[in-house]
Formats: sequence, structure tokens, C-alpha cells
Amino acid sequence: MSRIAYVNGRYLPLAQASVNIEDRGYQFSDGVYEVCEVRGGRLIDERRHMARLAFSLSELRIAMPMSEAALSAVLHEVVRRNRVRWGIVYLQIGRGVARRDHAFPPAGTAPSLVVTARNMDFAAAEAMAENGVAVVSVPESRWARVDIKSVSLLPNVLAKQAAREQGAREAWFVDSEGRVTEGSSSNAWIVTRDGKVVTRQADHGILKGITRTVVIAAIAGQGLKLEERAFTLKEAQEAREAFITSASQIVLPVVKIDGKPVGNGAPGLVATALRRDFHLHAEAS
Ligand code: PDD
Repeated sequence: MSRIAYVNGRYLPLAQASVNIEDRGYQFSDGVYEVCEVRGGRLIDERRHMARLAFSLSELRIAMPMSEAALSAVLHEVVRRNRVRWGIVYLQIGRGVARRDHAFPPAGTAPSLVVTARNMDFAAAEAMAENGVAVVSVPESRWARVDIKSVSLLPNVLAKQAAREQGAREAWFVDSEGRVTEGSSSNAWIVTRDGKVVTRQADHGILKGITRTVVIAAIAGQGLKLEERAFTLKEAQEAREAFITSASQIVLPVVKIDGKPVGNGAPGLVATALRRDFHLHAEAS
């Protein structure tokens, strides 16, 4: 079965789906995106992803290409046409097509919208969570507004590649003061020796993950103590547990940081319990 994409008003087989070469998303990475988990064919936390999308668009002064209800219908239709049971739906909105000029295009230029969806390997993801993953650290090199979910991801691409080349799943950005900001495509967490769950405060320096928000609810639901503050790489290496969160990975235990085992080198109890309970706190639509 060939995959189907939605591109500016049309549902097309991926091989025929294309954008104009003067699309500003292509030329300037002038656009934003969202990734939602699809589970049992339903979108997880669509409402929260739509709210963050509206925030990203408004910070960059890009218009919504259609109403939220119409966009929701497109997302569900792309999931349906691709027969996604467990996987992701991806949406990207750009500032539209215009003759190349850095400044904004003429008022009224229509924003571009692309939506794709695909199945993922559920068994492989579960096995990865049971074994835990390795992360490596890289210097923070991104711009100062990574709270906007922009498609400008070059530092993230380079960081993820550095992780791959070192046999790790994720790279953690570390700022000039030794503090972990977040992963290249996930939020970063630790559990301290005295059982506190720590993740960086959601300021301009991290993307405020939707998974992060729901995990905070799960933490409260389990009666655990949460601290929203920066933690250093050293603190992470000495922690009892570490884990990462994102829409596609949910909660994924980290068992090694820069080659050093975290805790006893196996997935921790807190991360495992939060992964198990995650969908009790998420919304499906
Ligand atoms: N990544 N931080 C960064 C830099 C991210 O790219 C992501 C998500 C997150 C977690 O956000 P959420 O919980 O809303 O997925 C944090 C997506 C999944 C991606 O780029 O594929």
C-alpha cells in the first residue's frame, strides 16, 4: 500500500506529493510542525498539540491555513488513509510560497500545509523501553527560542547524528554552565537518589513537550515529588534514574550517559511506572 500525504488541499501518494521550490519552509525553514502519537487509530493529545501549534504560529506570525476543526479532520483523514494503528501523524505549516526574499511575503500569501502519517514498530519500541537507551552529551548550539516548534532543526540533526555515531539513541544538549537543556528530539529527566523527579523548567530554552505535560500529571497521580529546574550532566550521571519523553517514544528509560551507567544500569522503576501509566493521563480523539 502506498502512503498518502495531504499537501495544500490534496491527498496524494507520497511519490507524487511535492512542494514548490519557492516554498519558504524549503528555502528558509520558515515554518513550524507538530508530531502526535497515534494509538489504536486515534490521535493522542490532539487538543494540547493544537494549542502548542497555535502558540508556535503566533510567535512567528504565520496564519493558520484553515480552522482548527478542518485541520483536525485532515489529520484524522491522513491517519485513516494510511491505516495507522500505532505510529505518528506529522503536520507542517510554512509561511507559504513567494519569490525568495528574507522578509515576510506579501500579506495574503497562503500558508502551506503538509500532513503525513506512518505506522511504527510497536514490538521494537517496547523492547527498546525494556532495555533502556544510551545518550551522549553535545554542546548546546541552538537559537534562543527553542520553545517554538520550528522546522529549523539543523543543530538537532547534527546532535542526533553524533549520538548515532557513538551508538546512542539520543543526544542531550548541555549549556555553557554544564546544565542539560533537553534532547535533540525529546525532553530530559532524572530521578534523584532521594526519589525526586527533575526536569528543566519550561522557559525559552526547551520545547515544552506535550508528553512532558502529561508525565507531570502522571507524576502527581503516583504521588511522586516533582522539581522543575535545570540539572547538570554530572547530576544526571549520579542520578538513580534518567529518562526521555516525546510523542513518539512516550517515556524511554536512559541507562547510559556518555558511556557511564545510570543507577544500576537498568531501566528504573519510576520511568517504567510512568511509561505504563502515561495513557491514563493522555487524551485520545
Ligand atoms: N520531537 N524537545 C524537542 C527538541 C523535540 O523535538 C520534541 C519532540 C520534544 C518533546 O515534545 P513532545 O512531547 O510534544 O513530543 C522535546 C518530535 C516528536 C519530533 O521532532 O519528532
